[in-house]
Amino acid sequence: MPLVPMRQLLDEAAAKGYGVGAFNVNNMEQIQAIMEAAKETASPVIVQASRGARKYTNDRFLYHLMMAAAELYPEISIVLHQDHGNSPETCKSAIEMGFTSVMMDGSLMPDGKTPSTFEYNVKVTSEVVKMAHDKGVSVEGELGCLGGIEDGHGTGGSGQEHLTDPDQAVEFVERTGVDALAVAIGTSHGAYKFSKKPDKSVLAMDRILEIHKRLPNCHLVMHGSSSVPKELQDLVNKYGGKIKPTFGVPIEEIQIGIKNGVRKINVDTDCRLAITGAIRQVFAESPEKFDPREYLGPAREAMKKVVSERMKAFGQAGHAGDFKPMSLEDMKKFYKKR
Ligand code: G3H
Ligand code: 13P
Ligand code: ZN
Repeated sequence: MPLVPMRQLLDEAAAKGYGVGAFNVNNMEQIQAIMEAAKETASPVIVQASRGARKYTNDRFLYHLMMAAAELYPEISIVLHQDHGNSPETCKSAIEMGFTSVMMDGSLMPDGKTPSTFEYNVKVTSEVVKMAHDKGVSVEGELGCLGGIEDGHGTGGSGQEHLTDPDQAVEFVERTGVDALAVAIGTSHGAYKFSKKPDKSVLAMDRILEIHKRLPNCHLVMHGSSSVPKELQDLVNKYGGKIKPTFGVPIEEIQIGIKNGVRKINVDTDCRLAITGAIRQVFAESPEKFDPREYLGPAREAMKKVVSERMKAFGQAGHAGDFKPMSLEDMKKFYKKR
């Protein structure tokens, strides 16, 4: 099955009231883990690559690994999405390579750290929407800024200063025509999101409710949505890691979001922790092992488990075969008609 446009997946998810996890990939094992989880749970899925991932893998390796996934799992609808595109050029190169969806993160300047202005964001995002929709490719925009711990996709602040303004969100979606909108509600990327289980004072779920009320037909996206489970922190630390005590986004909060217009949920850190915990365990318990398959295999299995749990929790499980996938050509016609 060819890769499918994200817009179709999110429209389907909205019609049936579920969310779709978007999982980051950087290598073959991560792609395999996601695809095996999708198969096991019969889930449609969004696979996303950051700029760093594209650089790490080299675009051509990434592309052919994704083609292999599409060939080997014909029953699964797969979206290939550019995570945090920092400029129209990055989005253009992703589209040329065959991505079926791009994020233009115009909430930040091209350095990926400095908050931009609203007008700048509208300008670059509209430019990408025009370029992408002409080719049937879906677009995610972002309004408001995430905290982000020096990962190049955030302001480095607490995440509270730049929460999405619901009125601006309406104007942004009207002026840009994005298919999906990432909203800032106090989360940040990475493991260190909250110092205690988050309550309303740090995780502004009410913004989602407000924005959804005003934009009932716009698909909302939650970034920085790893739950950073204590078991994974403990596993990494038990085998010599040094993760400081921390809290992520509780699954129950994400489920409230899904009831209120959230359709795409970005998860990377939980997968990283699962992989690291499994590798550390092999290294600590079997120091005589040196065949990479003996630690990358368990790492892949550990990531598959996390992805599969999230797919069930977000509600996408069981929906793989619900719809006939649309092509980018079909999507071009869809956008032209609007
Ligand atoms: O947006 C953040 C994702 O976790 C990707 O992170 O830029 O380190 O690949 P990365
Ligand atoms: P986490 O760091 O919480 O997994 O967030 C990932 C993300 O938002 C990717 O865009
Ligand atoms: Zn993100």
